[in-house]
Amino acid sequence: MKTKTALIAAIAENGVIGTGDDMPWHIKSELMYFMRMTKGKPVIMGRKTFETLGGKPLKNRPNIIVTRDTSWHHKGVTTTHSLEDAMNTARSICAETGCDEIMVAGGAEIYKQALPFADRLYLTEIHLKPEGSITFPPFDRAGWTETKREFHKAQDGETADYTITVLEKV
Ligand SMILES: NC(=O)c1ccc[n+]([C@@H]2O[C@H](COP(=O)([O-])OP(=O)(O)OC[C@H]3O[C@@H](n4cnc5c(N)ncnc54)[C@H](OP(=O)(O)O)[C@@H]3O)[C@@H](O)[C@H]2O)c1
Repeated sequence: MKTKTALIAAIAENGVIGTGDDMPWHIKSELMYFMRMTKGKPVIMGRKTFETLGGKPLKNRPNIIVTRDTSWHHKGVTTTHSLEDAMNTARSICAETGCDEIMVAGGAEIYKQALPFADRLYLTEIHLKPEGSITFPPFDRAGWTETKREFHKAQDGETADYTITVLEKV
């Protein structure tokens, strides 16, 4: 079976995905969704996104970090120096462990480069228009079929409603 490549992102109504060092919302149940969907699958992240995790790799899934800095290392992650290198590393892991999907988890620079290779998009629409300069790259929806749309009301302590969507490449 072909290993699929998926992007997983939470995107505000104005396209914003982050402020640089954080995300402009706090939605625990959406974070839990991210954790469920990526569990056991290789997760590719840009070095800047990894730094937002406070030095703690995501547990129970291989963390593959992309950086141009050949001296950069971190305990508990695999360091790669190009997106191609990261995707090949992730595919090798899936060949060994039997996982069927590689998860690309941002940020903006990495989403932009990985979008042309994606088979599936897990996009959560965050119903906010926050300030922020980091945005998801524009893409043509005509090339995608939406297979899931599920609205979630903000729970106690959560700062926004959100809608989970899944899109498959046509
Ligand atoms: N809402 C969401 O779902 C979501 C998800 C993820 C992240 N975010 C947000 O996105 C923001 C970070 O995004 P970002 O675009 O600034 O950074 P990023 O994509 O996380 O990381 C960029 C870094 O990745 C490395 N890189 C990129 N392309 C490369 C390539 N082709 N070869 C080798 N290394 C490469 C470089 O690292 P070096 O500089 O080390 O060389 C580059 O500086 C944060 O605010 C984060 O909270 C949001």
